[in-house]
Amino acid sequence: MKVGIIGGGGIVGSSAGFALQLGGIVHEIVIVDANAELADGQALDMLHGTAAIADQSIRSGGYDSLADADCICITAGLRRKPDESRLALINRNVELFRSILASIKSHGLRPDATVLVVSNPVDILTYLAEKDLGLPKGRVIGLGTLLDTLRFRSLLAMNLGAPATQVQAMILGEHGDSMVPVWSSASVAGLPLEKYPGFSPKLGEAVFQRAKTSGAEMIKKKTGAGFAVGVSIAEVIHAMALDSKRVLPVSTVQSGCYGLRDVAISVPTVVGRAGAEATLEIDLWPKELQGLRRSGGILQETLGQVLSGAKG
Ligand code: LAC
Repeated sequence: MKVGIIGGGGIVGSSAGFALQLGGIVHEIVIVDANAELADGQALDMLHGTAAIADQSIRSGGYDSLADADCICITAGLRRKPDESRLALINRNVELFRSILASIKSHGLRPDATVLVVSNPVDILTYLAEKDLGLPKGRVIGLGTLLDTLRFRSLLAMNLGAPATQVQAMILGEHGDSMVPVWSSASVAGLPLEKYPGFSPKLGEAVFQRAKTSGAEMIKKKTGAGFAVGVSIAEVIHAMALDSKRVLPVSTVQSGCYGLRDVAISVPTVVGRAGAEATLEIDLWPKELQGLRRSGGILQETLGQVLSGAKG
């Protein structure tokens, strides 16, 4: 599989490239960045290590080198200025993002390509990518709450002294303030999380709050998340490369799952070679379902503002 990373010079894009390199599964990685020198530096730094890892082609390139990519991962984006509102940032990022989509389109892309959106606000941009690119259903995926889910599981494990890979607990909904923890199916090694030694609802809530605010914690402590987001990106891309049908909380434009439609939001999604191949509507607690629908409503409202702003 050939993967192109747009914004690959930045902390998120380069961490994704490195995670894909360490995975050794994709055969080609192209780093694309507005800063061509930086893109080349990141690609070369990875290339220097190939002899110890895997026989992959790693290089920098322009949009023309994405025309035959199997997967295009978009991580490029702007940061909020101190005096700027969230929506103003969204509108600026929307403009930049749409110009990236236009560049991808004008250089052409494979009809069976998948596009993984990581730039924020990810659910809004995933919706726009799906509409603007006109790819078949399921080909555009937003990283969504996969990163929040990994944070949640890892932090729960740390707090309980439990093995992180055996802690299962999904976060669904918006990659943002209205995300929803799914306690109804949370488990450790297949056993109910609520019965695990040391677990209490109070601890669970505190860990969820920490997971939810981890993006901000990373900005404060190290200018922004890198490693964990890189690992989450690699998890989605590997699921496509291996056609593994992993069930992941990623964002796609919904058409009825949990009553959500015409909004990109994270629900349990089967990821394989064709991208998001199916969504799973498995019973949640009523308050979880309510939270998910509320999250969908919030995203739809923002989307409405963005779309009317874009017209005006
Ligand atoms: C975060 C960014 C990647 O949550 O949205 O750290």
